[in-house]
Amino acid sequence: MIIREFRPKDLKRVYEIEKMSFSNPYDIEMLRQLFDIGTGFLVGQISDYIVGYIIFWIKDEDQGHIISLAIDNDYKRQNIGSELVKVAIDVFKKFNIKRINLEVRTQNKEAIYFYKSIGFTCEEKILNYYENGDNAFKMSFNCFDEC
Ligand SMILES: CC(C)(COP(=O)(O)OP(=O)(O)OC[C@H]1O[C@@H](n2cnc3c(N)ncnc32)[C@H](O)[C@@H]1OP(=O)(O)O)[C@@H](O)C(=O)NCCC(=O)NCCS
Repeated sequence: MIIREFRPKDLKRVYEIEKMSFSNPYDIEMLRQLFDIGTGFLVGQISDYIVGYIIFWIKDEDQGHIISLAIDNDYKRQNIGSELVKVAIDVFKKFNIKRINLEVRTQNKEAIYFYKSIGFTCEEKILNYYENGDNAFKMSFNCFDEC
């Protein structure tokens, strides 16, 4: 697999993965806008086929945010999500970002186990975070924990 920067021609395929991954997916225009405003946007590709992506944002001087991450159902549990997050963490570190945050639905056990496997920890529960009233866990990762 290679990990590379998103290109506008990848949009349709990224949207396909977004739709298969989330009950309330971003629409294709929102994905385009996220790219246009300058988010970090990486895709994982195997033989010309995009199998996953990550979108992230440097919110302020020392905090970053993972906005979206999804892997094609047929390619899960092959370490692709982990590789995408690790490359994103390297980018955050280059910008001297000390802490990465994200929100995840409290019932999304798959994602919670996944982020914990990388070293994220649950910081707080946010009630009614999502439009449909679902609760979220805020999870965080300290980029320079090793020092
Ligand atoms: C969460 C997600 C991105 C994980 O991607 P992935 O490429 O399958 O994950 P990896 O193969 O890198 O998994 C790394 C580790 O995470 C944990 N993990 C991943 N999926 C898991 C699951 N379904 N159940 C339990 N643990 C899981 C395991 O410890 C796994 O290591 P192992 O396979 O050696 O046991 C993927 O399941 C996905 O796209 N989910 C739908 C979208 C989503 O919820 N995105 C995150 C919300 S922001």
